[in-house]
Amino acid sequence: MATAQTAGAARYVPQDHGLESLRAAAQGCHGCALFEDATQAVFGRGAAGAPIMLVGEQPGDREDRAGEPFVGPAGRLLARALADAGIDPSVTYQTNAVKHFKFTRKDGKRRIHQKPSRTEVVACRPWLLAEIDAVRPQVIVCLGATAAQSLLGADFRVSTHRGEELRLPRAVLGAPVTPEPVVVATVHPSAVLRDRSDRHDEAYKSFVEDLRGARSAADGV
Ligand code: URA
Ligand code: SF4
Repeated sequence: MATAQTAGAARYVPQDHGLESLRAAAQGCHGCALFEDATQAVFGRGAAGAPIMLVGEQPGDREDRAGEPFVGPAGRLLARALADAGIDPSVTYQTNAVKHFKFTRKDGKRRIHQKPSRTEVVACRPWLLAEIDAVRPQVIVCLGATAAQSLLGADFRVSTHRGEELRLPRAVLGAPVTPEPVVVATVHPSAVLRDRSDRHDEAYKSFVEDLRGARSAADGV
């Protein structure tokens, strides 16, 4: 139904914002066309009350198969960076701006990641907002431009505001959440992974620094 595919996720998000209800309902989402080719919706991982929420772009090939976020190469880099920043993964809730994997096929089989469009990011945002409402994190870390622009607006530039302590715009948040989370934007771990230049170590260190900054904005972490 073409109308259902362009109307966004809002109509699929249940009233009950318990994480398990949300996770189950996301599997039935037809809020944009991405559900058609992906294996499954990849919902967030972690507990309600986790002080730090990490938001990536969308699941990759591995995540699409496993049904869990950050289990592939970018996830491994993220896990190492969290450890180096002194953040126990159990204090994080890890999710993505877009819940279905978007890809093209190369040579008829290999699946190549495609960046989600602004329309898809906005279509999927109700799931992310419901997760924020369910988890009530103290700090939200946007990993890369897609996550940052989902929560902070299409004009947001990570390069200009990286590492700053920001707030969610009311227009995005809808109803106020208390306590209001701090939002920090940094690069995506796959950008660090892809940086094979002699600046790689520096890129990794700055990423860890941003995570450390996020940690210090959360109480008792
Ligand atoms: N990249 C993301 O943005 N999210 C994942 O879950 C995996 C890779
Ligand atoms: Fe729904 Fe998001 Fe999947 Fe689109 S990407 S179908 S909005 S869960």
